[in-house]
Amino acid sequence: MAKSSTNRFRKNVLKPLAGLVLIAFIGAQFVPLDRTNPPVDPALALDAPPAVMDVLRRACLDCHSHETRWPWYAYVAPASLLVAHDVEEGREHLNLSEWNAETPSWQAHHAEEMVEEIEDGEMPPWFYTPLHGEASLSEADVDVLRTWAASFAEDG
Ligand code: HEC
Repeated sequence: MAKSSTNRFRKNVLKPLAGLVLIAFIGAQFVPLDRTNPPVDPALALDAPPAVMDVLRRACLDCHSHETRWPWYAYVAPASLLVAHDVEEGREHLNLSEWNAETPSWQAHHAEEMVEEIEDGEMPPWFYTPLHGEASLSEADVDVLRTWAASFAEDG
């Protein structure tokens, strides 16, 4: 009795459910996503000292520039949906490829904010660092950004 109801549950619920999940998974692969890197205009892109660019490239540019390195899982849903969303949002909030289009006071403010986000552990996002080991920043890395941000505040 108990056995046959288990079988019925498998046949009537679990199998159709697995089928639906599979169909949803396959269907999700066809959701159109923007995985493009718009051209970088060298006149607009942030051009900081190499040490600063190195830190930003390791930990920030994937989401905050037009120089995204799209990983393999950016091509497999549902991960792809999350990656594309992060890049879209990241570029919207802070696009280092368009840094020079902003005013000096905007730049000074955002350079400070970048350091603060890192100090608060908000950036890079918690799920990013396990996938990108080079993105976990040392105290020395953060110091490089602090010095850079401070130089803005003096200029502005
Ligand atoms: C995996 C993608 C990703 C990476 C990598 C990343 N960010 Fe972000 N960042 C976002 C997203 C998405 C937002 C907007 C939503 C939010 O605030 O969480 C954001 C928001 C921000 C903001 C707020 C901008 C504003 O004015 O609203 C700052 C500053 C920032 N990030 C700095 C950084 C810095 C500095 C790094 C590198 C140390 C970094 N981020 C790495 C995705 C990312």
